[in-house]
Amino acid sequence: GAAEKGNYPHFMLKEIFEQPETVENAIRGRLDHEMASAILSGIGLSPRELLQIGHIVIAGCGSSMHAGLVGEYYFEDLAGISTSVEQAAEFRYRNPIIEPNTLVIPISQSGETADTIAAVREAAAKGAIVTALCNVVGSTIAREAGRGIYLHAGPEISVASTKAFLSQVVVLLLFALLLGRNRRLSRSRGAELVAEIEQIPDLIREVLEQALEIKKIASRYAHVDDFFFIGRGCLYPTALEGALKLKEISYIHAEGYHAAELKHGPISLLDEKHPVMALANDIPGRDKILGNIQECRARKAPVVAIATRGDRAIRDLTQDVIEIPPCSRFVAPLPTAVALQLFAYYIAAERGCEIDQPRNLAKSVTVE
Ligand code: AGP
Repeated sequence: GAAEKGNYPHFMLKEIFEQPETVENAIRGRLDHEMASAILSGIGLSPRELLQIGHIVIAGCGSSMHAGLVGEYYFEDLAGISTSVEQAAEFRYRNPIIEPNTLVIPISQSGETADTIAAVREAAAKGAIVTALCNVVGSTIAREAGRGIYLHAGPEISVASTKAFLSQVVVLLLFALLLGRNRRLSRSRGAELVAEIEQIPDLIREVLEQALEIKKIASRYAHVDDFFFIGRGCLYPTALEGALKLKEISYIHAEGYHAAELKHGPISLLDEKHPVMALANDIPGRDKILGNIQECRARKAPVVAIATRGDRAIRDLTQDVIEIPPCSRFVAPLPTAVALQLFAYYIAAERGCEIDQPRNLAKSVTVE
């Protein structure tokens, strides 16, 4: 009802603005300053059992899969554990390789997505250790997995996932920190990460403070038919998520690409009618994205750039810059995703779309 939306016109906007608190909820009680690590009791695995994990398989759909793709960077880089991300729909048909030391992490906001439930059952039947990331307490996936980590994002009403996605990414970072400290990650690197994680709610607040500026930029792009989103590293799955948000609520055709893939095909489409959203935060790979922006501009494609505050070189390439506070590459997907959510939201609002209930979509897809 209207009351639950408070002063917001849509649940989506309310949920976007809740994110400093929902991320705080995802972190609360889960940082271990003493050990420069994370505490995740729900995973139900002892340090010795954690040490035995040889491979991680993440399974999910839509935004939950995108969160998993960010997590892949975390687990491989921080914990040194090879990780693969499966479309949950494909998991049981691919005959996945599950060894006794494989950890399967199903990710689902609702815990009721049919394909992800099927992946959990297949993983369990093959003897995998299963630890689920769910938002809805007592949901089918949470129950069947037996162990897991709750997201604590509160009810997500908008069909487009926002706060659950952010909590998924945060919980994956905590999990990777724990696995990393259990293995090769030094105490000092762990302490740095703990400090960075604690800053995330403030980073999000700083992005939310720019909502009006993002709305202004969005209004200049509300009438386009197509959009490309490009990124590298952890910002590559963030680009996929940004494109999904835009297409699902505004009905604009949007595609997320790894920035390096542009020249393997899609660049042939670029012209003044094909704008590009470039995730150009000042993290490793930023200089290459700068080159990609130049390539887009040379083909007259309008570019919106997400950049770290004060990045003059990017301002020289395009006037449409959304500024993100400085942060490390592992944390960057979070404030960046918030900027992309607002961008998609304001475009859809300007187009008069049914934002909370886009046509043809259900909040949770309970059929195969
Ligand atoms: C996200 O905005 C989508 N509506 C959708 O992709 C969603 O993330 C997907 O259906 C998975 O849902 P789940 O997290 O509840 O399993």
